[in-house]
Amino acid sequence: MKALVYHGPGKKSWDEKPKPTITEATDAIVKIYKTTICGTDLHILKGDVPEVTDGRILGHEGVGIIEEVGTAVTNFKKGDRVLISCISSCGKCDYCKKGMYSHCEKGGWILGHLIDGTQAEYVRTPFADTSLYHIPENTDEEAMVMLSDILPTGFECGVLNGHVKPGDTVAIVGAGPIGLAALLTAQFYTPAAIIMIDVDDYRLEQTKTFGATHTINSEKEDAAAKVLSITENKGVDVAIEAVGVPATFELCQSIITAGGHIANIGVHGKSAVLHLETLWSKNITITTRLVDTVTTPMLLKTVSSKKIDPTKLITHHFNLNDIVNAYDTFQNAARDKTLKVILTNE
Ligand SMILES: NC(=O)c1ccc[n+]([C@@H]2O[C@H](COP(=O)([O-])OP(=O)(O)OC[C@H]3O[C@@H](n4cnc5c(N)ncnc54)[C@H](O)[C@@H]3O)[C@@H](O)[C@H]2O)c1
Ligand SMILES: [Zn+2]
Ligand SMILES: [Zn+2]
Repeated sequence: MKALVYHGPGKKSWDEKPKPTITEATDAIVKIYKTTICGTDLHILKGDVPEVTDGRILGHEGVGIIEEVGTAVTNFKKGDRVLISCISSCGKCDYCKKGMYSHCEKGGWILGHLIDGTQAEYVRTPFADTSLYHIPENTDEEAMVMLSDILPTGFECGVLNGHVKPGDTVAIVGAGPIGLAALLTAQFYTPAAIIMIDVDDYRLEQTKTFGATHTINSEKEDAAAKVLSITENKGVDVAIEAVGVPATFELCQSIITAGGHIANIGVHGKSAVLHLETLWSKNITITTRLVDTVTTPMLLKTVSSKKIDPTKLITHHFNLNDIVNAYDTFQNAARDKTLKVILTNE
């Protein structure tokens, strides 16, 4: 079969690889139908994730059709259409029992990281019964791909951890796919205002069609001053960080109101300053989280019933065998006005 293979920092190619086989009784082999590229894949290619070794097939998102299941798999059979979660969960360890699948002792984020991933014609998915989801009849497969990672990430790490409530004022820093997933799912709770902050005018313009009430380009304006003027000098109830650099985490601290929640989503490579000298008395909560995908079944219902439409996030389509070009488009998001790309294996 063909697959997108990582060959060390900056190097990847569309290579011939052996088709995966069942190695554990709890495995399934899935024929990929649609997959995508994540910002995390770009982090891997930059060399930021050294556990990923030469020869690894990338990708942790996608939908497909079950080709074969191990003898212990009872929920799925050959021919079933499935959503693949970016997090593999054994369902049995202490963390899985707490609903913290991201820290599963045998799973967690392993696809396209510690084991071969989904940017391939076939993938081996471990713990199939607890890591795959049936795709309901008449549900758009491309919408489902947004459920592998970005929707649960924006919702769990941003909206749930941020405790978004009716009438709240919410600021989301970062209008990439993850910030937009938080924007879409925050609206389950009918906040009064959602302020999107980014440095890319095209992305900010798009957020208005996704439900943003205000936008701020933090390169052109003083974002903290503008948020304070929008909120009558109070600040926001919820600040969601969806970039992953010190400046944006620090911005969240300067716009939070008393009693507010700062929910960090971004993956950080450097320390950020915690301004306890101003925050110690403000009764705020700061949260961090690696996506657990524990809300995937609930989000799947909201997507299949069209309560939210994540296909709005898809800007480009490619054939799977054209994935090297798709990476170029995804890597040059500002140039090509890219949000999410869909790769189809036909
Ligand atoms: N916690 C988790 O489980 C989890 C899961 C997936 C992704 N993430 C992380 O979430 C973050 C967002 O992911 P994404 O795929 O949307 O990334 P992305 O790179 O597509 O989007 C980031 C956005 O931030 C904007 N930006 C950059 N610098 C900025 C600044 N100084 N001020 C304001 N905006 C700025 C960019 O213009 C871009 O629109 C990343 O750090 C990613 O690694 C976390
Ligand atoms: Zn991802
Ligand atoms: Zn587990």
